[in-house]
Amino acid sequence: MILPIYVYGQPVLREVAKPVDLDMEGLDQLIADMYETMKNADGVGIAAPQVGKSLRIVIVDGTDLVDDYPELKDFKRVMINPEITEKSEETAEYSEGCLSVPDINCSVIRPKKITVRYFNEKREQVTETFDGFGCRMVEHELDHLEGHMFIDRVSQIRRKLIGGKLRKLETRNFRPRYKIK
Ligand code: NI
Repeated sequence: MILPIYVYGQPVLREVAKPVDLDMEGLDQLIADMYETMKNADGVGIAAPQVGKSLRIVIVDGTDLVDDYPELKDFKRVMINPEITEKSEETAEYSEGCLSVPDINCSVIRPKKITVRYFNEKREQVTETFDGFGCRMVEHELDHLEGHMFIDRVSQIRRKLIGGKLRKLETRNFRPRYKIK
């Protein structure tokens, strides 16, 4: 089922999301719904707070970006209760966007590599190191679980420049391309 995407201004996007009980009723359905919602909106990642659920679940799927990033060929992950265990000192800069902040893209600097321990959709514990654009996708989504958004991580000047657009999003004075809340 396609769920509405919670857009900038919704308090749930600013909450620290709660750990998931792996036996939670409806967990598989929620993951399926998040995936369908992300795909329907042409997204490459989604976090549960973006569908109004304050839970530590993220999905990334870079397989549609394979033309630009060949290393993303099989890059599709469901991460439940992810924890970053290592971050590189080295940073990388990429342009980011977000389904909860439609029509805004900004360059963001983050660690180039991270290691994450998480449970996958089969409830298996996995420890994985990410690099390149896949890493960036994961970092962006994990930020949502802490109540952060990419626009918090841009320069002051850039933030000022997008201020008007953000106010329009907040007041829902825009035309969404997918169902929003
Ligand atoms: Ni996002």
